[in-house]
Amino acid sequence: MTNLYDEAYQQSLKDPEGFWGKAAEDCFWYKKWDKVLDDSNKPFYRWFVGAETNTCYNALDFHIDKGRGDQLALIYDSPVTDTIKKYTYTELRDEVAKFAGVLKNQGVTKGDRIIIYMPMIAEAAIAMLACARIGAVHSVVFGGFAAKELATRINDAKPKVMVSASCGIEVQRVIEYKPLLDEAIRLSDYKPEKCIIFQRPMAKAEMAAGMDVDWNEAMAKAEPADCVPVAATDPLYILYTSGTTGQPKGVVRDNGGHIVALKWTMKNIYDVDAGDVYWAASDVGWVVGHSYIVYGPLFKGCTTILFEGKPVGTPDAGVFWRVISEHGVKSLFTAPTAFRAIKRDDPKGEFIKKYDLSNFKILFLAGERSDPDTIQWSERNLNVPVIDHWWQTETGWAICANCMGLHRFPVKYGSPTKAAPGWDVQVVDEGCNPVPPGKIGALVVKLPLPPGTLPTLYQNDERYKESYLDEFPGYYKTADAGYIDEEGYVYVMSRTDDIINVAGHRLSTGAMEEVLSDHQDVAECAVLGVEDKLKGQVPVGFIVLKAGVTKSNEEIVKEVVQMVRDRIGPVAAFKTATVVKRLPKTRSGKILRGTIQKIADNREFKVPATIDDPTILNEMEEALTGIGLAKARKD
Ligand code: COA
Ligand code: AMP
Repeated sequence: MTNLYDEAYQQSLKDPEGFWGKAAEDCFWYKKWDKVLDDSNKPFYRWFVGAETNTCYNALDFHIDKGRGDQLALIYDSPVTDTIKKYTYTELRDEVAKFAGVLKNQGVTKGDRIIIYMPMIAEAAIAMLACARIGAVHSVVFGGFAAKELATRINDAKPKVMVSASCGIEVQRVIEYKPLLDEAIRLSDYKPEKCIIFQRPMAKAEMAAGMDVDWNEAMAKAEPADCVPVAATDPLYILYTSGTTGQPKGVVRDNGGHIVALKWTMKNIYDVDAGDVYWAASDVGWVVGHSYIVYGPLFKGCTTILFEGKPVGTPDAGVFWRVISEHGVKSLFTAPTAFRAIKRDDPKGEFIKKYDLSNFKILFLAGERSDPDTIQWSERNLNVPVIDHWWQTETGWAICANCMGLHRFPVKYGSPTKAAPGWDVQVVDEGCNPVPPGKIGALVVKLPLPPGTLPTLYQNDERYKESYLDEFPGYYKTADAGYIDEEGYVYVMSRTDDIINVAGHRLSTGAMEEVLSDHQDVAECAVLGVEDKLKGQVPVGFIVLKAGVTKSNEEIVKEVVQMVRDRIGPVAAFKTATVVKRLPKTRSGKILRGTIQKIADNREFKVPATIDDPTILNEMEEALTGIGLAKARKD
């Protein structure tokens, strides 16, 4: 028997132009497309070629035109500053138009890049939408990254203007942003022309005359700016994400396909309608924040929540339930790690009982593998469906999901259910041959990818091809390994590269190794992601010292931990390293990372046939026990 999901899925693959062309009818266009899908330059594909639109118009003005001007568009809820501020669609549009005017006064025009380095305040979303309004390309950088990471992004994006705030708040700590911003600009080769700073009362930034512009003063002087028509294929944003080196990848998102795809997902995947309250508890610095704090819910005419707090400690493990009940949230989307933190602090769900959650209908989880225990705890305590779904910064929206607005499939724990419409997900072996159901291989997606996904990497078509398309011709490589069962449920097991997932944050162990190698006493090193009860994975470093080093091991470990914090940022959560005499390697000199990882996680492992000296594995086990991993965990 077919259902709405099966029908949509089949149609999306058989007739992608018909399927997405119909979805696009629901959006605003200054000029309609000449062609829904342009495949004349394979392996590059473009959606809605010839069309003109504006992302900000679709997010705000469109709803005001339709009579939703007085409905709430955005609720800023900040337990760390004890503030709740609400914006109707008209109020948000007016703020955004004013800030677009501020940008115009700084000479920003269509195509210019703007880096936004901000905490979770409403002004971050206002800045993003203002860029979209005038066709400028934003690149939001997560606040937990260090100055050096910001500098790398400045060099790549070459922003005309930076937008930042005086500080962020991490539970009770005030983190000053301005010194980080100044340091990043000092480190970068490319220099932006101006920095617009939003002053927060908890820490005032020192302003440099001629360079820094005060947000409020500039807003007072600016005239509101109108939406500028852009090509559907023009870039809306660049979002940098971890690659396998210290050089992050600049994922590009266009305007037209992004509007169409995200608006479509709101009903079909998340089952929300215009007027519903939708909350993605993430950060605007991540793709989830782009797609589901800012753009998706606003395209649909929902009320979105922008939350400046943590799942625990702001002030307690009941804050999610307080926000849901106070604002009438229908659908919550967050990372499993947030629920693990809540479960740890409130195992019996006592806080849940204190709040009226009658409006709350579905919990969505993504960003890392959802462990069955966390899903089951959430199901038991919340009494709503808990939906795991799988996606990536590159894809912009879910590759696999239980599409709640189409058909609700029974949940199989450990699986994000089935490929979403538009996604021809397959499993192949190293030679790109399909593998049978149940067998693990590389998870790939047959080209073309649906709209809203990455058309390329910023000014780097070559790296785009090399990273995603070359290994499996005709397919997009997700760099995740997994399998598909007989019923079409997809299982995502692990990454095939050196990316790890720490508290839902995507990080490259290769980039951390680059930092460790820079320490003057380090001869060789390896960084691996080991299992962690709260964060899913955490990085652990193994260091081999150069001969004749006089410093103590403790001192060196302390120094490398600080180096990672300074160069990549606190978000790397790199706190553990150990000095070892040597690293286990194959006879050809490749470090046996998989084997070390298995020992650390207490999983069974075979002594690799290619190992040059098996006795080294005992040394590794000892070293791991010394830092509380391996056997120590078992005992
Ligand atoms: N600005 C500055 N520092 C930041 C930061 C930001 N925006 N975000 C995180 N950090 C810092 C933290 O303060 C912490 O610093 P510390 O080492 O001095 O303690 C460090 O980076 C690591 O942060 P995090 O991994 O988030 O751990 P945590 O212990 O602060 O909190 C959780 C743990 C599980 C509560 C938290 O990670 C969480 O809420 N995760 C949800 C993840 C998420 O939203 N992912 C997005 C994908 S959906
Ligand atoms: P990011 O680009 O930060 O969204 O990280 C993407 C990666 O996170 C994916 O390639 C997966 O490895 C992992 N991931 C995201 N969602 C899931 C999920 N639901 N199940 C398993 N892994 C996931």
